[in-house]
Amino acid sequence: MRSVQITRGVLALLLASTLLLAPIRAADSVVDDDEYADVQRAQLVVRKFVKEELVVQGKNVTVELDIFNSGLSTADAVKLEDALPAEATLVDGALEVNFGKVTVGSHVKHSYVIVFNTGSVQVTLPLARVSYIAETDSTERTLGGSSTMALYVMTPVQQLQRYALQAGAWASLGFARTPSDWRNLAIVIGTVGTALGANWMVKKVNASRVNRKRAAALRELEK
Ligand SMILES: *[C@@H]1O[C@H](CO)[C@@H](O)[C@H](O)[C@H]1NC(C)=O
Ligand SMILES: *[C@@H]1O[C@H](CO)[C@@H](O)[C@H](O)[C@H]1NC(C)=O
Repeated sequence: MRSVQITRGVLALLLASTLLLAPIRAADSVVDDDEYADVQRAQLVVRKFVKEELVVQGKNVTVELDIFNSGLSTADAVKLEDALPAEATLVDGALEVNFGKVTVGSHVKHSYVIVFNTGSVQVTLPLARVSYIAETDSTERTLGGSSTMALYVMTPVQQLQRYALQAGAWASLGFARTPSDWRNLAIVIGTVGTALGANWMVKKVNASRVNRKRAAALRELEK
C-alpha cells in the first residue's frame, strides 16, 4: 500500500516536471530565433519633423527627415518615399530620394519645403517610408516607416491674434498669468478691434454720403 503511494508520488513529480520543462523548451527555441535574428543586419530609424508645431497657411514649411542606421551592418540601396498631407503642396525639394549606402552609426538627412493651402486645421504628417537591403549578400528589401508629427496650421488672422496676445502679455508685464486672464485679454482686444472697425465703417459711409451730396450740388450748379 505504502509503495503504491510512493509510486504515485513519483509519477506526479515526473508529470509536473515534464509540464515545467515544456515551457522551458519553448523558451529555448525562442532564444534560437533571436540568435538567427542576430545575423548582422542594418536597422534604419527614420525621424520626420517640422521645427515649429504651429505653422501658418501660405508660408513655407520645411519638413526634415533624419535617417539613422542603428543596426550592425551597412544599409544598401536606401530609398526614401514620402507623401504630402492633403492640405499642402510641394514648393521645393523632392519626396523621393535614393541615398545609396548608410553605414552603421551614421545619419543621412533630407528636407523639402511645403506650403499649406488651408488654415485653422490640425494636420498629422503622413509617415515616410524607407526601404533598403539590410544584409550583405542579399537582395531582399526591408521596409520601414518614419515617426510622424501633428501640426496646427494657423490662418494669417490667427497668427496676428497670437502676436496680439503675446504683445498683450508683454505690455501687461506678466499680468496675464492664468487662462482666464488670457481670455479677458482676448475679449478686450476683440472688443477694441471691433469698435475700431465699426467706427471706420461709419466714417466710410458718412464720407460716401458727403460725396454723394457734393456731386448732387455740383450737378445743380452745372444746370
Ligand atoms: C519659399 O520657398 C520657395 C522655394 O524654396 C522660395 O523660392 C521662396 O523664396 C520661399 N519664400 C520665403 C518667404 O522664404
Ligand atoms: C456720420 O454722420 C452723422 C450725421 O449724418 C453724424 O451724426 C455722425 O456723428 C457721423 N459719424 C462719424 C463717425 O463721423
